[in-house]
Amino acid sequence: MRVYLETFGCQMNELDSELVRGQLVSLGYQMVDHDADAQVVLYNTCSVRELAEQKALSRVGMIGVRKREGERLILGVLGCMAERDGVDMLRRHPQVDILCGPAELDKLPQLIDNVRRAQESERVRGVALAGNSSRRTATLSAAEDGLEMLDLSRAFDPGAREQPWSAYVRITRGCNKFCTYCVVPYTRGAEVHRPPDHIVDECKRLVDAGAVEITLLGQTVNHYRYTHGTSVTVGGREAAQVGPGLKAFRDGAAPTARTTTFADLLRRIHEEVPGLLRLRFVTSYPRDFGVDVLAVMRDSPRICRYLHAPAQSGSDTVLARMNRGYTVAEYEEFVARTFEALPDATLAGDIIVGFPGETDADFEATCSLVRRLPFKNNFIFKYSPRPGTVAIDRFPDDVPDEVKRWRNNTLLALQGETSARVHAAWVGRQVPVLFDAVRAREGAARAGQGGAAGGAVPMSVGGRSLEAPAPTWQAVGRTPGDLIVAVPAESEAAARAPLGSIRRVQVDRAQALLLLGSQIGPVLP
Ligand code: 5AD
Ligand code: SF4
Repeated sequence: MRVYLETFGCQMNELDSELVRGQLVSLGYQMVDHDADAQVVLYNTCSVRELAEQKALSRVGMIGVRKREGERLILGVLGCMAERDGVDMLRRHPQVDILCGPAELDKLPQLIDNVRRAQESERVRGVALAGNSSRRTATLSAAEDGLEMLDLSRAFDPGAREQPWSAYVRITRGCNKFCTYCVVPYTRGAEVHRPPDHIVDECKRLVDAGAVEITLLGQTVNHYRYTHGTSVTVGGREAAQVGPGLKAFRDGAAPTARTTTFADLLRRIHEEVPGLLRLRFVTSYPRDFGVDVLAVMRDSPRICRYLHAPAQSGSDTVLARMNRGYTVAEYEEFVARTFEALPDATLAGDIIVGFPGETDADFEATCSLVRRLPFKNNFIFKYSPRPGTVAIDRFPDDVPDEVKRWRNNTLLALQGETSARVHAAWVGRQVPVLFDAVRAREGAARAGQGGAAGGAVPMSVGGRSLEAPAPTWQAVGRTPGDLIVAVPAESEAAARAPLGSIRRVQVDRAQALLLLGSQIGPVLP
């Protein structure tokens, strides 16, 4: 059967989709690039903001039209919307055959098969329903470990990923922080940590299959903590383990020798997978980011000195209402500590504007934070009330949309200035760049724009011939600090040549979100 799978939302979803794809392909399903060619259409959805849900729902609507016109299709909604919306989605969108929450993805082939059989036997519409990552059952499902099996059964075929040189590895599922605006603790369930041996092994196998960069994924990666000898073993293997709760990170709760902390995990991967040239991790929680992690980063040259550590707001009152668990001063102290240990680190984050009760003064405090701290970029979001969260019940969404929009744009402009300062500081330096993309800029062959001097190609419009400038090519990649670097190339082939390799580049100029370089050096290391 032919399957089309589209992914919305975060990196966790991208990884889930990769695993689902691997699982389906190994069972003989064929993945296709267009929904029109598919017999099974799957949307891996995101619930973090309403807009993301609307996008997926409009796709679901289009498939509904096709089904009503008589096409026999299987439609599956996977991921956070399946978990959050549950049966309500089936009532409002009867064209949906499968709902499968993030904690049930290992069962997807079975669900597809059920629907297929039901359709073939012309019985009533076959609804296969899964999706229950209830926090109560998280311990049990960690022990039962279907999801761990999904991670473990990953296909290491380099063709399984669009960019074979770069891969994600999950270290933690779920989240225990309960920020009041956020659906993730409800859709992805309780924090569960994967056994370190599984993680290290997965990294080794990915590197053997050609990965040079691995990004460890978790909602709050620095809260990774695995205590050996205490969890259930499944078939002789250690199982994933429910997180220890926040107390484990507070004063006097030193890890024991039988504990693998996040710092230990980073050190292990760095030591045991020497072929891995870049080790990254997202997302960091600004609280409890220990000096032990910074020390490992300082001592391990192949760990990227890049932190994505969302501040969310620059106002203490808003942070308290968000239940973020830190003050602005504590956030700044964490940033100062980071740059002291790692002077060439880069910092990125997320910010929500228009959270309930956010005053002009609160917003000004956020602007001030963005001016003060060296964020290379911030993803800025307008607050979106999400059903099921504490905030939607407790705090009225009282910042008008036009105020949210204005604050969003104002902050974006300010962030642009900060980004420009951060990027400008790299001009004149040489940086290692992992090339991962090729960009063609139509007729942009203007000196001073970072483009190579382009030639001209003859073009004819309405019988008159025009001289249209040929596209200029750029090889594009990222520094260890996740700064984007573009280097002009003379042809598409020349732009493609460095793809997947790390090369030294001289940074000549900078824009707000881009470094422009020259002189691609030989392959590193
Ligand atoms: N509204 C707006 N932004 C949100 N985020 C999470 N929940 C919401 C919400 N309800 C943002 C946070 C988080 C990022 C992934 O999405 O900034 O860090
Ligand atoms: Fe959501 Fe907060 Fe957990 Fe991040 S830390 S996933 S924002 S609840």
